[in-house]
Amino acid sequence: MKKRYAIILAAGQGTRMKSKLYKVLHPVLGKPMVQHVLEQVKAVGLEEVVTVVGFGSDKVKEHLGDHTKFVLQEEQLGTGHAVMQAEELMKNKKGTTIVVCGDTPLITQETFAKLFEHHENEESKATILTVKAPNPTGYGRVIRNEQNEVERIVEHKDASPDELLVAEINTGTYCFDNEALFDALQSVSNNNSQGEYYLTDVIEILKGKSAKVTAYQIDNFEETLGVNDRVALAQAEKTMKLRINENHMRNGVTIMDPENTYIQPDVVIESDAVIYPGTIIGGKSIIRGNAVIGPNSEIQNCEIGEYSVVKQSVATDSKIGDRVNIGPFAHIRPDANIGDDAKIGNFVEIKKAELGQGSKVSHLSYIGDAKVGSNVNVGCGTITVNYDGKNKYLTTIEDDAFIGCNSNLVAPVTIGKGSFIAAGSTITKDVPSDALSVARARQSNKEGYASRLKNRLKDNN
Ligand code: UD1
Ligand code: CA
Repeated sequence: MKKRYAIILAAGQGTRMKSKLYKVLHPVLGKPMVQHVLEQVKAVGLEEVVTVVGFGSDKVKEHLGDHTKFVLQEEQLGTGHAVMQAEELMKNKKGTTIVVCGDTPLITQETFAKLFEHHENEESKATILTVKAPNPTGYGRVIRNEQNEVERIVEHKDASPDELLVAEINTGTYCFDNEALFDALQSVSNNNSQGEYYLTDVIEILKGKSAKVTAYQIDNFEETLGVNDRVALAQAEKTMKLRINENHMRNGVTIMDPENTYIQPDVVIESDAVIYPGTIIGGKSIIRGNAVIGPNSEIQNCEIGEYSVVKQSVATDSKIGDRVNIGPFAHIRPDANIGDDAKIGNFVEIKKAELGQGSKVSHLSYIGDAKVGSNVNVGCGTITVNYDGKNKYLTTIEDDAFIGCNSNLVAPVTIGKGSFIAAGSTITKDVPSDALSVARARQSNKEGYASRLKNRLKDNN
């Protein structure tokens, strides 16, 4: 097999996005467009990847890290000029170079692989990935001769009325014989309606040298969508969403309403999980088998165990065990570690806290900076008072403790194993194991006092 290289074009400003954010960093299902492209193209097996970046490139470098080399295109003088920026790094290499745009996030690794194969089997100098567009407006058109061979690509803005009728478009992805590419780029001029150095001109230049140029046409236009504005961004989001959801469904996940379920690309979901509508699952989340998520829940970077249920709730950067019941209306903030068989009910917030097996926080509580053992019952309205305005402190609740309703546990504090906190207590000192702790004013009843009080108030009027 020939050596394979990739050049990703990602220096354009994307003026049509009307955004301060660099175009190729706009996310599709939570991941920047250019990262989708890089990951998919790398999956075909490459010797080297060079990404051409420009204005605002620091953030692109941050996102892509050392998965690619970078070259800078200081001024955006066109796609041909962009590829030229990689000349020094690339021109002497022998093999096949795929050029892809950073704004076509839907092209799959399978398509990239087939394009390479087609190019290599045909022994072409250039192979264009093309597709018939239902509405080709804005795209470069692939112009063929009477023998149906590719002759050149003409940009929309430079096309004649006849050429505008051509439905076959350039997807912006090509395989080139690397040396032929850099050789032909020498001859590209900016003599066109946009005054740009077009990469697409390389096709005609190669053809003029009698080099073999072919097209590899695919059927699926959606896959090749180029995102130039927010309308296309929403289309890309939709296509990718349905593609991901379909994949999960084929793997045995029930998704009740795929149009209204947003699962990001790196999420793992085991079979027999059920996802209800209005749910967003993102980051590196793992949803184990038979878990039930949603409706209307947002899970970011969480592992959710088998048979657990998360209803109408938000969970971030946390680990949730098996058979756990969460919600409705719970908020699991970062670094929560919820043990098997635990229960977290409505209007409960958990942050940076461990909750042992079978423990319950069923209603209206805040558990933050805490270590809660197993089989603990945290009554309604309990608060770990973890913050003094400057520092955060730890609350420890040992196994089998029972915290009465509406208690304040003022940290740092330890509630001993099997102890019992009376409702309404404000606990400021450690509670030994097996103790009953009452920390509230004693109740006194004054008999008959209520009507006397009312009468006195009446007399005063
Ligand atoms: C380009 C193609 C067009 C094709 C379409 C597919 C050219 C001349 N035209 O048009 O035939 O149908 O893609 O989507 O190539 N870029 C740079 N530096 C530049 C200019 C662009 O890095 O100086 C990058 C952009 O960031 C983008 C990609 O190249 O990722 C394509 O540029 P864009 O301006 O979007 O080209 P299109 O007009 O869409
Ligand atoms: Ca484009």
